[in-house]
Amino acid sequence: MITSNISYAVNALNQGDLVAIPTETVYGLAGSAFNEHAIDKIYKLKNRPTCNPLILHTHSIEEVLKFVQHVPPAAMKLAEAFWPGPLTLLLPKKSNIPLSVTSSSHLVAVRIPNHAVTLSLLQQLDFPLVAPSANPYTRISPTNAKMVDDYFGEALPVILDGDICAKGIESTIVGFHDNIPVIYRQGAISVDAIEFIAGKSKVQATIKEKVTTPGMSPMHYAPMTKFCIVESILDFIYENRELKIGALTLGKIDVNQPNTNSINLSIAADLEEASANLYKSMYDLDGMGLDCIIIELFPEIGIGKSLNDRIRRASFR
Ligand code: TXA
Ligand code: MG
Repeated sequence: MITSNISYAVNALNQGDLVAIPTETVYGLAGSAFNEHAIDKIYKLKNRPTCNPLILHTHSIEEVLKFVQHVPPAAMKLAEAFWPGPLTLLLPKKSNIPLSVTSSSHLVAVRIPNHAVTLSLLQQLDFPLVAPSANPYTRISPTNAKMVDDYFGEALPVILDGDICAKGIESTIVGFHDNIPVIYRQGAISVDAIEFIAGKSKVQATIKEKVTTPGMSPMHYAPMTKFCIVESILDFIYENRELKIGALTLGKIDVNQPNTNSINLSIAADLEEASANLYKSMYDLDGMGLDCIIIELFPEIGIGKSLNDRIRRASFR
């Protein structure tokens, strides 16, 4: 059920049930971080391997300090600059965080989401929430309540509605080696913005490298329909007129062709707007029974690098 009633979600979580929660990035599939049954249900419902750990969500830096042993200075700078917001920090955990949350790692991933509904929910709970994105394993992350409902139906009784996710792609995950930021997942905060606050970083996982973070497997975020990055959308359509094509476009471009469905991610070619629209648009085209979905690479600036990371993964077979 999709509901705006926060008390309903509080009750469900207190009983050990799962609730889908809105965040500014994507919807999360949340349960109590201190309830092994709830953690188990999250893995089962998502069909996610238990070697892929969960992000802890809480509402203040004070709370975070209850769950981590220490915060390197660079991490504290990032926390103060970006929380609440789409930043996840990998920090050494305290023993109160169960190993089932971190897949036995001594590091816990933690973030304070920037969404009024979920911040209010977190303030009303006596425990932090663990919440992976609310999609079945390897599917596109949901950016509205209806997508979550489509994925899980009655198996997930409470979906807390918080409208469309403003950022639309996942948080940026940052760990630290000797106080130097290491970017494990490029996300809604650009690498440039991280470096502006915390100095030069290393970007750890790219699609061709060895998978170093469990969830950085390239088979992520993929639509069911064949998804291709093309050099020119218009050329591809012209050269493949027999195919039923879905095109995701950016900026002013006229794709008014028979056999083609197109969705414009941002007429103004604004990358923030494109980010907010990307997953929902991929999902909508995915439901149309097309032969393929095509997209051009985004400009490699700011959040465009994160968007390119996502579409490269989606096109990986
Ligand atoms: O924006 C987001 O971060 C969303 C919203 C719901 O907060 N959550 C999200 O969670 O994207 P999920 O589970 O779909 O992706 C979390 C990523 C995975 O790649 C996981 O492997 C990695 O974070 N991760 C979590 N805990 C970790 C840990 N202790 N060590 C290394 N990687 C970790
Ligand atoms: Mg995910």
